[in-house]
Amino acid sequence: MRGTRAPLEALLAVLGLCCLTALSIRELPDAERAALKAVLVVIWCIYAAELAAALVWRNGAAPGKSVSVIDLLAVAIPAATFIVAPHSGDASLSCALWLLKPLRDLPVVRLMGAVLATEGANLLGVLAIFLAILFAASLGGYVLERNLQPEQFGSIPKAMWWGVVTLTTTGYGDEIPRSFAGRLLAGMVMMSGIGVFALWAGILASGFSEQLRREDFLRKWQLVSAVPLFRQLGPEELLAIVRCLHPGKASPGAVLCRKGEKGDRMFFIVDGHVGVATAAPVELGPGSFFGEMALITGEPRNATVVASTQISFLSLNALDFHILASRNSQIAEIIRKTALERRAVDAAPR
Ligand code: CMP
Repeated sequence: MRGTRAPLEALLAVLGLCCLTALSIRELPDAERAALKAVLVVIWCIYAAELAAALVWRNGAAPGKSVSVIDLLAVAIPAATFIVAPHSGDASLSCALWLLKPLRDLPVVRLMGAVLATEGANLLGVLAIFLAILFAASLGGYVLERNLQPEQFGSIPKAMWWGVVTLTTTGYGDEIPRSFAGRLLAGMVMMSGIGVFALWAGILASGFSEQLRREDFLRKWQLVSAVPLFRQLGPEELLAIVRCLHPGKASPGAVLCRKGEKGDRMFFIVDGHVGVATAAPVELGPGSFFGEMALITGEPRNATVVASTQISFLSLNALDFHILASRNSQIAEIIRKTALERRAVDAAPR
């Protein structure tokens, strides 16, 4: 339900934010202003109706409908602002909260939340370094420039504005040290700023890639545990096989193995069905494997295998197959036995 609702919510949010942006133009004629406000009211009504429906059916009748804090705030805050100050225009400003509705559904936002949770301590550490340098820079600016520019550097809090602008290398140029020592300090602060931001970017980048790797591993782990053949593996072997298997998907009609071609990998079906075009065609389903014969014998594929439904599979390349077979004789035996039985069936006279 959230999936079908999300594009409409995003569209309404964008429309609402466009109205809100236009309403901030002072010269806007009254008629247009009234029309834009009416659009905001209509969007608010849709969000309120959606929220009411989700609250009413929360306990089962419409299982896909969920209520989040953002849904509540998106309705409650504009309503409350309108009640408190009906003519101030702040009610339309508070509609800016609608921006959070489409953002909430973006996978990257969830990923960002996970990264912030795992890297929080490191990010806070860098923030502490940033604040320490800012304080030292402001103190230095105050000591070196207070007599030359009392208006800008007359106290540590006053010098802090210069400190932030310089440390973030923004460089508005509204406050510039005049003394040689002050300029020397400014140079050092700028370089420290670059270092601090590089640290932040590094932590976030490695956090993102680590999180993606973790999620990929978990997804593969779940897929591998869906194949009965791997259930007999111990944790260490399972870990090794999870690293070697490559998840894939194929649409109905996709050719996965073509008769006569060289075999470079075998497949484990996680979900869906494939058809094996042998003399007596066979259908294989979840938990089955195929493409093993060419890897065992080194001969070309003995049949064409086509996806009969949407399928999800794991593939294992030839080298990893031989490593797995040499490490785990039980699995190797099952695969070999199955291949022999299939060969016998295929060779049987019809
Ligand atoms: P391979 O020869 O590598 O490529 C085609 C695959 O089809 C083959 O390995 C087997 O995995 C599969 N296959 C061939 N014959 C049969 C059969 N009789 N039953 C099930 N699968 C088969």
